[in-house]
Amino acid sequence: MQHQTIGILGGSIKILILSLGLLALATSLLLIPPKFFDARSFAEADPDKYTSLGDGWHRIDLGPFSIDTPDRFYHVRKRGIDSYVGLITDRKDSMHFDFGWYSYSYGDGRYLRSHDTIHGQKVIIAFKNDHIAGVHFPLLNKSNKLTVSTAQLSDQDNRRIIRSIKINGISGPTSSVLGQNKESDLFISGSSLFKANCTSCHHLDKKIIGPALRGVVSRTSVEWFTNWVKNPMEFIRTNPRAAQLFEEYNQTQHIRFSTFTDEQIKSLIEFVEQERQHAVPEKNYPRVVACQ
Ligand code: HEC
Repeated sequence: MQHQTIGILGGSIKILILSLGLLALATSLLLIPPKFFDARSFAEADPDKYTSLGDGWHRIDLGPFSIDTPDRFYHVRKRGIDSYVGLITDRKDSMHFDFGWYSYSYGDGRYLRSHDTIHGQKVIIAFKNDHIAGVHFPLLNKSNKLTVSTAQLSDQDNRRIIRSIKINGISGPTSSVLGQNKESDLFISGSSLFKANCTSCHHLDKKIIGPALRGVVSRTSVEWFTNWVKNPMEFIRTNPRAAQLFEEYNQTQHIRFSTFTDEQIKSLIEFVEQERQHAVPEKNYPRVVACQ
């Protein structure tokens, strides 16, 4: 009887020791310096590919194109079918790129899309929840397209990254809205301004308390829009069409946002109008001609 108990105890002690051993092994594996993943060793191994930009960023030359990123990011190649696919990663966070015939164009309705130009190339910038989600170059040399998705960085960093993308052998002016506080910036601030002040009564596509606002400025005018926002009661008094709308909406008094600056009005317009542009169907973009 006693022997048996000792036997069982002995057994569990062995198991305990074994599991402690395994635990120690696992811990030590985790604690090994992640040399393999060190961006610097990648850069040292491939000095032609990485050029330091001196401010904690480097330029990665990926062959068909180059891209600037914070220098903790490095390139890892993945296998793609008919395309050059890769990962630019700092281990925690990654950007993906796909250079080939079938690169994703963010056209399936899950993204807001804005047109832009980078180094002379027409591109589509994709937004999700007001953040830049990626960029698509619809037509490059021959029949290739390029898509680069962003990592979870600040919009400022992502802008810099996207704006830096340069297709090798092709150059041109960068008239990028990403650069100098143009459409995409306006769009982002307009979007949050709209959410904070207008969505309780306005939807872009359906009438709720107030009318649907998508494309309202192109249906009317900047003046019409500005007056409704900044000076509605005066507008209703002096403009018969405004008065008519006011009647249609059971004389609901419009809130007066008199403190909105011109820039804020512009951003709201960018939002209600650019939304419409985002809905432009894919077929309006240059089509890839496969035979060449
Ligand atoms: C409390 C509800 C409410 C809020 C908040 C509101 N609106 Fe309105 N809006 C209306 C109503 C109702 C109308 C219809 C005219 C009326 O009765 O005043 C209207 C009309 C408009 C029109 C004219 C639409 C057309 O079809 O010509 C514009 C433009 C407009 N609003 C913009 C805005 C913007 C931009 C904001 C946010 C900054 C905003 N509104 C906030 C209720 C609201």
